[in-house]
Amino acid sequence: MCGIVAYVGPKDAAPILLEGLQRLEYRGYDSAGLAVVNAKSLRTRKVKGRVADLAAAVPAKFKGTIGIGHTRWATHGAPSDVNAHPHLDQEQRIAVVHNGIIENADELRRRLEGEGVKFESETDSEVLSHLIGRMVKDTDSLREAVLRALKSVVGTYGIAVVDAQRPGEIVVARNGSPIVLGLGEKEMFAASDVAALIRYTRQVVHLEDGELAVIKADGFTTFTSDARETAKEPFTVDWDAGHYDNGGYEHYLLKEISEQPETVARTLRGRMDDRFHIAHLGGLNMDARETRSFRRVKIIGCGSAYYSGQMGAQLIEELARIPADAEPASEFRYRSPVVEPDTLYVAISQSGETYDTLAAVQELKRKGGRVLGIVNTVGSAIARETDGGIYLHAGPEVSVASTKAFTSTAVAFALLALHLGRVRDLSPADGRRICEGLRRLPEQIEEILTLEDRIKELAKKYADAPGMMFVGRVRGYPVAREGAQKLKEISYVHAEAYPASELKHGPLALISPELPTVAIVPDDELLDKNLTTLGEIRARHGRILMVGHRTSEAADDCIVVPKNEVELDPILLTIPLQLFAYHAAVALDRDVDRPRNLAKSVTVE
Ligand code: AGP
Repeated sequence: MCGIVAYVGPKDAAPILLEGLQRLEYRGYDSAGLAVVNAKSLRTRKVKGRVADLAAAVPAKFKGTIGIGHTRWATHGAPSDVNAHPHLDQEQRIAVVHNGIIENADELRRRLEGEGVKFESETDSEVLSHLIGRMVKDTDSLREAVLRALKSVVGTYGIAVVDAQRPGEIVVARNGSPIVLGLGEKEMFAASDVAALIRYTRQVVHLEDGELAVIKADGFTTFTSDARETAKEPFTVDWDAGHYDNGGYEHYLLKEISEQPETVARTLRGRMDDRFHIAHLGGLNMDARETRSFRRVKIIGCGSAYYSGQMGAQLIEELARIPADAEPASEFRYRSPVVEPDTLYVAISQSGETYDTLAAVQELKRKGGRVLGIVNTVGSAIARETDGGIYLHAGPEVSVASTKAFTSTAVAFALLALHLGRVRDLSPADGRRICEGLRRLPEQIEEILTLEDRIKELAKKYADAPGMMFVGRVRGYPVAREGAQKLKEISYVHAEAYPASELKHGPLALISPELPTVAIVPDDELLDKNLTTLGEIRARHGRILMVGHRTSEAADDCIVVPKNEVELDPILLTIPLQLFAYHAAVALDRDVDRPRNLAKSVTVE
């Protein structure tokens, strides 16, 4: 999605803004721009394309110690120089960058045009610069002008605004689209993502929805939309700039896949008790009595987070024997869900900023639901909005396709399931079995990573297929869904996932040599049933790549992974599919880390 960076301090703003925008590149965008204030006038540059193109368009002498920058992901109006942000008011006094969607933009535009305003772009965002431009003339206070302008706006926004006539301050505001302040030494930053600030400061303050801030070189003030000042405590981000480097890998995606032995170990660290074979999850903020009181678990998340939630539901049902299911947060929030007091709700998000998931959490809170978060980004909106939860500690995930956050989420669910199980009927022996299984995971992931060359060969072999079917039964089904998701989003090969048991109820008609199947076949109590499915596919001349714990003559190719406890096997079975999708995408020459049409965190509806 779009990205925002803002700077005020003693240094030249443009290089800082460009560096920040580069750090936001991973979020996906199609154009970029910046504005600085110098001698009470605005200087702007905007280009369609990459931040490198913007850097090339910014002249060496682009002086100004206050400025705002933006990377845009088009929603209203095609990607173009003119639709890129910042947008200015008619007097070229106000510059605004905006993330989100102004829902009543058409109405505001008509009103402003009626008052003689000429618009330059097709964007919804431009109404903001004109509204603020008109207000600032009346009030001569940027803060007041932004407050008043936002009163007529319906929609979501994260904005940063500069006024050429007041070159010592920037006003930022948040409503549904993240804004974080970065506190430096006699300089201040603001951005939509800490990634843009991390090179300069790790002291940050997150704005809440409906909150605004004025930032100046020597400090900041925050206040609500009805102008009441708020008190904010800065906190220190535990990621540093190095976490955002590609570590010498050709792609962030491969780096993040390869990090999984370590990231899984970090998710587990300090959370297992060898004496009682229980999980220590202090962040849940629940005592044993409350933990026992839930009769259902409902998990929500989007995309891969939702698929990891399906894996989590399976783990909770098996280990804790509590009915559990997962649902896309994007659907859940719109269907007026029945919220019950004895249901534990769990929201999953790598970024902690996915708008649909955040909105679902807010709906649950309104209805009195108890919501936990399984989140990677410390201090993010979903982490703040939930009643407690589990941080993944997987480090920043830069590539658009989620990998290490997926496995860490599944591991966090295993811990949660162990916790819920051990306050109920899960025996100490089974608790011990799961703890030991969890401890084996990092080493077993290392082992799977050594299969990369073989998986690369297979990816090349299958990458030219027009589509692929992924099948799995029960524990294998979320693995199949995530495998299909990875393949389609980064290689653009059509991939469909089905429960293996459902094939004969329809999709078997699709099976032919042109539509190979990836079959997830763990050594569990369903092995024979899965092998029968392979026979059915084979009889229709379908090619089969089997991923499991043994080879089979029923398959054309096999990837054999180390065996863990049956409940934990799905975590390991996911990893070869990540490598498969990665190498298929490379073989097809795709933009692996920034697949077309997608963005890392989806902060719009
Ligand atoms: C994963 O590969 C996807 N790019 C996407 O489905 C992602 O998982 C989803 O948008 C949710 O993101 P979140 O975890 O940051 O909430």
